[in-house]
Amino acid sequence: MDPISEQLDTEKLLEEGQRKMDWARQHMPIMSSLRESFEDEQPFAGERIGMAMHVEAKTAILAETLAAGGAEVAITGCNPLSTHDDVSVALNATDGVTSYAKRGVDDEEYYEAMEAVIEHEPTMTVDDGGDLVFAIHEEYPELIDTIIGGCEETTTGVHRLRAMDDDDALDYPMFAVNDTPMKRLFDNIHGTGESSLASIAMTTNLSWAGKDVVVAGFGYCGKGVARKASGQNANVIVTEVDPRRALEAHMEGFDVLPMDEAAAEGDVFITTTGNRDVIVGDHFEKMSDGVLLANAGHFDVEIDLDALESKAEQTYEARDGLQAYEMADGRRLNVLAEGRLVNLATPISLGHPVEVMDQSFGVQAVCAREMVENGDAYDPGVHDVPDELDREVAEIKLEAEGIEMDGLSDTQEEYMDSWQHGT
Ligand code: NAI
Repeated sequence: MDPISEQLDTEKLLEEGQRKMDWARQHMPIMSSLRESFEDEQPFAGERIGMAMHVEAKTAILAETLAAGGAEVAITGCNPLSTHDDVSVALNATDGVTSYAKRGVDDEEYYEAMEAVIEHEPTMTVDDGGDLVFAIHEEYPELIDTIIGGCEETTTGVHRLRAMDDDDALDYPMFAVNDTPMKRLFDNIHGTGESSLASIAMTTNLSWAGKDVVVAGFGYCGKGVARKASGQNANVIVTEVDPRRALEAHMEGFDVLPMDEAAAEGDVFITTTGNRDVIVGDHFEKMSDGVLLANAGHFDVEIDLDALESKAEQTYEARDGLQAYEMADGRRLNVLAEGRLVNLATPISLGHPVEVMDQSFGVQAVCAREMVENGDAYDPGVHDVPDELDREVAEIKLEAEGIEMDGLSDTQEEYMDSWQHGT
């Protein structure tokens, strides 16, 4: 497959993509700081890094930072609808980076681009959702011997890798970047909350105030969506399958209902479970005219669109990024972004705020550095990110923000480590 620049008319796209990257770079102090040290130390010299991620401006800054550290980077998308073609073109024009990502690809093109990345014979992989690791294990196992390891960005990818690991089917080490405090407490909560609501509001031009918003799943992403929707004066209803999380939602003041009941209550439905078949056939029967259906979980399997389509009398594009399904009784159920990640896959979606991705990608970058420096210390399988790496990223961010904090005194450290102090 040809790189992006040979597929599209690039002149205008290049300029716009570079403008988006410039803006992102200005607001990513962690990446700037790491880039400086990578330029000096060249930790990735001689390494080939294969990436499958949402190719938009912030990801582009991660890719260029790894390239500035000496890597040869090959990148493609991890979702058929989340690529910004202008950024992909600009990235492809960056020294040391080849981009194959293009928006609106079909399944065949999506996997062709993934193969094109793999043909660079990566020595390290950076993934969002696990498709690249999976494709290498399925189709190119001969490359595994020369792969030092990799990093995974999201909850669903980490679940997938842990399932591979449990089956002894994961043959190189992977860092669970998603599971670090610097990622999950900011990206999943604030990032998904803010950007999902922003994408839905911008795509529909409708208000949150006074709406009944059903949030399926009260994990990290669901908490963010529920809290931010509540902050915009919506009434939030949570659905859950974990009793602790259902209780947590209740104690935070949200209504908790089974989806069977919530279906009749909601004006807007947002799934954040990482599971499948969360909103299905019978639920559609109970919904009111005009509801909005959106998914913020990684794959497009949370809302059963096949069932919806089979029930619909007709379907049409009501707005860019919004498909109306009209039922025989005249009700219109509106699906955003084809049921794909709503904060990344509508035509106006921008993904998470830049500051949030600076943190997530800061963790990615230090994990990639750790893999090249100490890869031998990690067996094949999923690994937690060493805490000192997560702290390093937090300290860079605090310094950039001019925020000072206390440190432990020697007496405090000794006290915290001791079991002998009592009343
Ligand atoms: P999590 O594991 O913290 O939360 C998922 C929650 O969904 C759990 O509390 C679980 O009990 C609940 N759940 C599972 N099946 C359910 C069902 N049938 N009905 C109701 N609740 C159910 O996971 P996290 O970190 O919140 O991630 C969720 C999904 O969002 C994953 O697919 C992840 O990859 C994706 N994600 C998306 C982002 C975005 O930009 N849109 C950013 C980060 C993660």
